[in-house]
Amino acid sequence: MPLPKAELHLHIEGTLEPELAFALAARNGVALPYRDTEELRRAYLFDDLQSFLDLYYGLMAVLRTEDDFAELADAYLARAAAQGVRHAEIFFDPQAHTARGVPIGTVVEGLARALDAAEERHGVSTRLIMCFLRDRPAAEAMETLEAARPYLDRITAVGLDSAEVGHPPSKFREVYEAAAALGLRKVAHAGEEGPAAYVAEALDVLGVERVDHGLRCMEDAELVARLARERVPLTLCPLSNVRLRAIDTLEAHPLPRMMDAGLLCTVNSDDPAYFGGYVGDTFHAVHEALGLDPERLRELARNSFVAAFLDDDEERRARLIAEVDAYDFAADDAG
Ligand code: HPA
Ligand code: ZN
Repeated sequence: MPLPKAELHLHIEGTLEPELAFALAARNGVALPYRDTEELRRAYLFDDLQSFLDLYYGLMAVLRTEDDFAELADAYLARAAAQGVRHAEIFFDPQAHTARGVPIGTVVEGLARALDAAEERHGVSTRLIMCFLRDRPAAEAMETLEAARPYLDRITAVGLDSAEVGHPPSKFREVYEAAAALGLRKVAHAGEEGPAAYVAEALDVLGVERVDHGLRCMEDAELVARLARERVPLTLCPLSNVRLRAIDTLEAHPLPRMMDAGLLCTVNSDDPAYFGGYVGDTFHAVHEALGLDPERLRELARNSFVAAFLDDDEERRARLIAEVDAYDFAADDAG
């Protein structure tokens, strides 16, 4: 049995495996600019975040119906459950779909169908986090929040993703204020490719409760001390950082130093269909490449439940943390 864990940084569109992409393309009559799954996979060589985003948004053309979104999410949940995920907080990018003429209701209803069945079918509790695309105008994010109003009972939090540099968190101050007024919780990507100052801005201007990535906080010792003191969770994605060249090699990832600095680190898969593994694979990879021992892996798994938006089900949080604490690594491997 794998180590129980929560996944807190996962873009559902980034779980679109080549096989499902081609199946949906055939079903929906969408032509893809790749001959087959092998040719598509060969295109997964990225120079940076933008080169990934170009392919990621392009491949979304195959996602058209409620069934498509339900199938996508169910396939992720099955894979995640097999790797020990017991709770998943799932990002989605409504603007990437509404811009193609797919209504937000189709996206949310489709995802919700899979998520509603997830606890019984896969033993995974779930939350949905609606992300705004930071490289599009703030006014469009505000319109997206407005369009999401009928579905707010399904959405736990708002997030901020897409191309980071040149699009600081402060651009979305009003949108985040409006989201908070609607009872939504707040997270944001910051410090993936953008500077440490964006991490501080996400906290101070947007009032986020967790920082997605936050990797580049390591360039500012005072910020690190603050994040540690305030116990701000960071949702790190080591395989993503290597594939998007935020760092050179997994062996060079600062995760061990970040944990040593007292940061509340979690590890996550980001876009597992593109970056070489789901979250269990990520745990194995950091164990191998960074020499994190079982107690370090246990800390990461415990942190994932501590940082989860499970405030409305503290009993489940406590039960899952107890399972992590009782987990016997000798009966498995790296988890
Ligand atoms: N960073 C920013 N935006 C994204 C990512 C990412 O890694 N994946 C999907 N959207
Ligand atoms: Zn991300």
